Amino acid sequence: MKLAVNIDHIATLRQARAAREPEPVLAALLAEQAGASGIVCHLRGDRRHIQEIDLQLLRKVIITKLNLEMAATEEMLKIAREVKPDTVSLVPESPDEITTQGGLEVISQKSHLTSYIQELKKVGIRVSIFVDPLENQIKACQEAGANLIEINTGKYAEAQTEEERQANLEEVRQAVAFACRLGLQVHAGHGLDYHNVQPIVDIKEISELSIGFAIVARAVMVGLTQAVREMLELLQK
Ligand code: PXP
Repeated sequence: MKLAVNIDHIATLRQARAAREPEPVLAALLAEQAGASGIVCHLRGDRRHIQEIDLQLLRKVIITKLNLEMAATEEMLKIAREVKPDTVSLVPESPDEITTQGGLEVISQKSHLTSYIQELKKVGIRVSIFVDPLENQIKACQEAGANLIEINTGKYAEAQTEEERQANLEEVRQAVAFACRLGLQVHAGHGLDYHNVQPIVDIKEISELSIGFAIVARAVMVGLTQAVREMLELLQK
């Protein structure tokens, strides 16, 4: 299973002091050298972590795949069509959330998303939708023309009891199987860490995990190279 490293929180640390360091581009290069298959960043409307200049520099220097997470707004469409990341991941965004809360509500905005996705595809960008493990939402992703989906593992990761965790894991399993039957490529992510990732790794139809916070948090203690390698070891099991 491949690992895409989300470097948003390298930029969060830098923005905490409006400083020059730590540098997200350097983090991306180190993550690639350690074996990551892709780099993910989320350009938020409020620019709380990643800035447009980061995105432009990342596009120039990374040699794996660049995945830009963004809301499906006109502003972001313009930026994505200029920068041309390999993949755009459409996510919901609300200004007062600490992190992305849940998958995108696809059904109610299917016609908007269908034309939006077409505009991205026209310039050669693959489009992913971050979606909850729900069959009707996943079906709507396919109908809107997404190339792939990223199943939200947040509910699984945040489960308070073992029973809840198992139930949420089963939901993820079923959703992955359903998406595969529809012919969608399946990624997963959100809230995954060194302790909870293994059952997700065991779902072999998932081709890639997108992990950010846990890797950056460990990197503060052991360095980014080691943090990425330790996660990769778990993904290879
Ligand atoms: N996938 C998506 C769509 C996200 O929005 C995020 C958080 O930015 C992640 C994956 C990574 O989540 P985490 O930082 O909890 O690993």
